[in-house]
Amino acid sequence: MAVSYKQLGFVNTREMFKKAMAGGYAVPAYNFNNMEQLQAIITACLESQSPVILQVSSGARKYADQTLLQYMGQGSVEMMRRMAQEKGVKEIPIALHLDHGDTFELCKSCIESGFSSVMIDGSHHSFEENMALTKKVVEYAHPFEVTVEGELGILAGIEDEVKAEKHTYTKPEEVEAFVKGTGVDSLAIAIGTSHGAYKFKPGQEQNIRLDILKEIEKRIPGFPIVLHGSSSVPPELVKIINENGGQLKDAVGIPEADLRKAAASAVCKVNIDSDGRLAMTAAIRKTMKDKPAEFDPRKYLGPARDALKELYMRKNREVLGSAGMA
Ligand code: G3H
Ligand code: 13P
Ligand code: ZN
Repeated sequence: MAVSYKQLGFVNTREMFKKAMAGGYAVPAYNFNNMEQLQAIITACLESQSPVILQVSSGARKYADQTLLQYMGQGSVEMMRRMAQEKGVKEIPIALHLDHGDTFELCKSCIESGFSSVMIDGSHHSFEENMALTKKVVEYAHPFEVTVEGELGILAGIEDEVKAEKHTYTKPEEVEAFVKGTGVDSLAIAIGTSHGAYKFKPGQEQNIRLDILKEIEKRIPGFPIVLHGSSSVPPELVKIINENGGQLKDAVGIPEADLRKAAASAVCKVNIDSDGRLAMTAAIRKTMKDKPAEFDPRKYLGPARDALKELYMRKNREVLGSAGMA
């Protein structure tokens, strides 16, 4: 049976992005696949009073079971409300978003099961096919007041279900026609960020193309822009992982200074997944090494959850500027 996101306590991204644009900050979009990640995201964003977008990829839906994830999302709103009351703080807006939806059917299924926002990633198709697919999703989503993110340009990087060998920067001359022709609510662009923990090669220039972002902003002023692949791959986390048996060689992320500049501009949503994976892995590897006799999952997942919460609080406060904006 179909369920509306409004019944579950989620909001769409429209108001969030309007405020983020006016306030010169970006809303964090954090991916989750399990309970500990979800708890860390909600507690970090409530304590830092930041709006938040919970992201679910199709890989996450397969890993954790789509029905269970939907109930977890719903439960997280209830948890946030109870905690807000206990702490005497304001409730925060939470959106439930499909990350990298690749078909109309997947977007439709998510909308019917309580998502307040979906991404249709048609970036691997031709411009015309991307336009047609994105428009079809928008036409289905908008009567339910579900917001839609589209993408132009291709981000490199490899994760479970999101793969691209080659990076293609977004062409600024295409954005206006795409946004007008599809009716999307936000647009993901490719300006040098990429998925995963290996974003730049050693010796290569390690900055993103803020000049392309500027050019895009000029063509669609005031329109919400999304940055995927925005983990900064903190060297201290890579170090902990490698000192405790890991082998992450030449892992490099996006400089935080670039992300701060982007967040202050028309970028209203910043996607972060890999940094959370690194924080959890570092904490788990350290516990495993320091306490080899430990075998209660709570004893290593607990510290991983604490590390994640710290990471998200810092991002909200120091990188995205979303803390205090709920
Ligand atoms: O952009 C992709 C997200 O990080 C999700 O990755 O497909 O491995 O869940 P995933
Ligand atoms: P990272 O791999 O840089 O965390 O990017 C995540 C992302 O773009 C999710 O859509
Ligand atoms: Zn992405």
